[in-house]
Amino acid sequence: MEKIVILTGAGISAESGLGTFRDEGGLWAQHRIEDVATPEGFARNPALVHGFYNARRMQAGGAHPNAAHTALARLQRDWPGEVVIVTQNVDNLHETGGATRVIHMHGTLSGALCASCEHRWTAPAEMSVGEPCPACRAATARPDIVWFGEMPYHMDQIYDHLAQAGIFAAIGTSGQVYPAAAFVHEAIAAGAQTVELNLEPSVGASSFDQTLLGPATQIVPRWVDDLLGRR
Ligand code: APR
Repeated sequence: MEKIVILTGAGISAESGLGTFRDEGGLWAQHRIEDVATPEGFARNPALVHGFYNARRMQAGGAHPNAAHTALARLQRDWPGEVVIVTQNVDNLHETGGATRVIHMHGTLSGALCASCEHRWTAPAEMSVGEPCPACRAATARPDIVWFGEMPYHMDQIYDHLAQAGIFAAIGTSGQVYPAAAFVHEAIAAGAQTVELNLEPSVGASSFDQTLLGPATQIVPRWVDDLLGRR
């Protein structure tokens, strides 16, 4: 049975109350990327960056998985082949929605990273400037988030999954950030059927065999039901 590889973006968590980046009033309308999502911004003003992620960590902590997250968990459980979720999101709603195979290519709000020794640990609810690393004690703790200009995580593993994909779905992403925006081309090269599920067509919509439009909580469960019914 085909392997299914699913890429998700901020749109899948929108109906759980978490803001997206590029929609009207999104996170990048409220904050400058260069100030809160680059290593240079963190070096310049770590308190501002910690404040930005502390607020997002707090908000994500109070959010609940929605019908789209739980539908993907059901697909992982009931599909006879492998189902891998590659997410650009840093919330844990796939996991709290029951998903098991989740790869966070942009890191997670729950992670902390030492900029000196690369030790990783579970971030406290509020991270602060000068927080000592539990391993090397250097005051270089940062959120374990992949910032612009940094290499996304687990790329070799992700490309391996894409090379074996029989079905590739992109859900809730505007397709404006690479390398994720090019995953559909890797899947096409692997001979996969490709489908985009989004509130509106992404910039890369024309690359997909099929586009399903609407709120994720409506179109994702329907898509999963069709797939499972089709077996
Ligand atoms: N249901 C489905 N799709 C939705 C919904 C919804 N309820 N609400 C919004 N969307 C769609 C929007 O139409 C948009 O295409 O989700 C997409 C969100 O796009 P972005 O805000 O650009 O988020 P994303 O694609 O995840 O951004 C990718 O950019 O800034 C970086 O690291 C950040 O991981 C992020 C990456």
